[in-house]
Amino acid sequence: MENIQQTEEVGQALPSIGSPAPKFEAVTTHGTKSLDDYKGKWVILFSHPADFTPVCTTEFIGFQEIYPQLREMNTELLGLSIDSVHSHIAWVRNIEEKFGTKIEFPVIADLSMDVAGKYGMIMPEESSTEASRAVFVIDDQQVVRAIIYYPLSTGRNMDEMVRLVRALQTTDEHHVATPADWQEGDKVIVPPVATQEEADKRMKDESMDCVDFYFCKKDL
Ligand code: BEZ
Repeated sequence: MENIQQTEEVGQALPSIGSPAPKFEAVTTHGTKSLDDYKGKWVILFSHPADFTPVCTTEFIGFQEIYPQLREMNTELLGLSIDSVHSHIAWVRNIEEKFGTKIEFPVIADLSMDVAGKYGMIMPEESSTEASRAVFVIDDQQVVRAIIYYPLSTGRNMDEMVRLVRALQTTDEHHVATPADWQEGDKVIVPPVATQEEADKRMKDESMDCVDFYFCKKDL
């Protein structure tokens, strides 16, 4: 409960989907970074429990592998753990030496747990000294658009990170929703109708693939 109490003490609610992303300024492996530095870009802010641990190492390699694709989608990566910047530097150097992967995204050294506390990344029942595997997708307006939490023991799926950002950006651009397991190029879900008249019209609309008035898909 520590982080929740801390949050209550400073009177700031934990972020939820649709809320403004909490502001921060933090020491990172690429110098001091603030949320404001990312205005106009999407950001995946993710935490990991600890440097020099195996699951986190596989995740860092995975995040680096999807980084070029994310950048093509105007999306930056920003890691975080409750380790020092020297630990982060030593670990990313070690990843390059042992696994041949150069980590190009910045990693926040959140020793004070300031950022982790603001974002609710600590799950005290699981660990009060390590951040859980949290993911915050923050859009180019600095609004939290998706939140994912994984336990310490389970590495995250990198394809899903890309799919999630792509789905959110597609939703924004075309005012549609995306079905389960949607991938770029698949049909999208048309938003629900509000009136009977619209329902009748929709069922006759040949540009859509409707099973019933509430379940229509279309190509983009
Ligand atoms: C890991 O990254 O391997 C790990 C970190 C914390 C707890 C369990 C596993």
